[in-house]
Amino acid sequence: MVIGRFEELPPYAFPRLRALLDATKPGAEPVNMSIGEPQHRVPEFVLKVLHEERAGYAKYPPMGGTADLLQAITDWLTRRYDLAADFLDPARHILPLNGTREGLFNAGLVVTPPEKAGAQPAVLIPNPFYQCYAGAAVTAGAEPVFLPTPRDNNFLPDFGGLPADLLARTACVYLCSPANPQGTVAEVDYWDALLALADTHNFVVLADECYAEIYTEKPPPGALSAAARRGTPKNLLVFHSLSKRSNLPGLRSGFVAGDPDLIAQYKHFRNYGGAASPLPVQAAAAAAWRDEAHVEENRRLYREKFDLAQNVLGNRFGFYRPAGGFYLWLDVGDGEAAAEKLWREAGIRVLPGLYLGRDDPETGAAGNPGHAFIRIALVNDLDSTAMALERINTCL
Ligand SMILES: Cc1ncc(COP(=O)(O)O)c(C=O)c1O
Repeated sequence: MVIGRFEELPPYAFPRLRALLDATKPGAEPVNMSIGEPQHRVPEFVLKVLHEERAGYAKYPPMGGTADLLQAITDWLTRRYDLAADFLDPARHILPLNGTREGLFNAGLVVTPPEKAGAQPAVLIPNPFYQCYAGAAVTAGAEPVFLPTPRDNNFLPDFGGLPADLLARTACVYLCSPANPQGTVAEVDYWDALLALADTHNFVVLADECYAEIYTEKPPPGALSAAARRGTPKNLLVFHSLSKRSNLPGLRSGFVAGDPDLIAQYKHFRNYGGAASPLPVQAAAAAAWRDEAHVEENRRLYREKFDLAQNVLGNRFGFYRPAGGFYLWLDVGDGEAAAEKLWREAGIRVLPGLYLGRDDPETGAAGNPGHAFIRIALVNDLDSTAMALERINTCL
């Protein structure tokens, strides 16, 4: 039986990659750089808390999060974004999640009405993008509208230049900063302009900031920095995660923060269909948000790998050092052909940018903004990364 609702969604990026590569023998000992799964060490103290709190597995955890975790998150946000001490109220502005993917998907459903301005609602998505956004738009019955992200606009969409009728029926906007895949950071003025547009046209800004703690130089500002300047988080939800920050993708722990009315609606939705994180996970997450030393060490390791990439690749493939995140976004002419060649000749597994972008309705894959690119996740240890970068440089 085919239900059909999800037919407009293309196959997900990783099954596509398996279909491209799995019939081919790798040309050397494989190095997987295709998935953004950090391979740095899990912090020991987090494992210790999980063990100490194990009796908590016998209890249903509170859906809205433990008071301790809510406080740890609030304190972290307040420190990180230099917020006034009373800007965030743990009980009203924060909701812990099982990682941000859950929240990014479900928030899209929560904030998208059946109709807006008498028409099908639109969900605005920068192209290329984290694929979950399009899944949420389609599930909510909205039209996903994919926005160009030209390099000469710092890979950011021009929201202000969109037609008024599109903005009128826009239910929400996804924006990832630092962006996956390009590593672009949206500055406070950019968030500010987007939030002003959201006020005018009554839509919600969903700020995906799961890479916020992986940066080379200065800490990227967040959408909350702009909200603080405006004096309110109205129409804004920001998403943060321990997956990248703390090398804990398997803990499944993150949170959403922002507009208290939207948080309340999300809690209501979650009471029906959500699952709270186990109590030991919430305790471990609180400990992780309270510690910065492991995050600094993490940044140091990524910095070393970006130095290496810069040395090995130089100016090839339009190399640039992203402001944040841990990806290289390289222009290799034909990303799918390059990914196939890298696997066949050098055992390097990377993701064709095509799989992160949406084809152009008229020109198809050729007009897909990811077509020319490969995305390389610098998640492995320094030695494997050094070897892999040499192989990539020789092979392409
Ligand atoms: C842009 C982006 N957003 C969200 C996520 C989800 O992360 P998690 O659910 O582990 O917090 C990812 C994971 O790779 C991502 O790349």
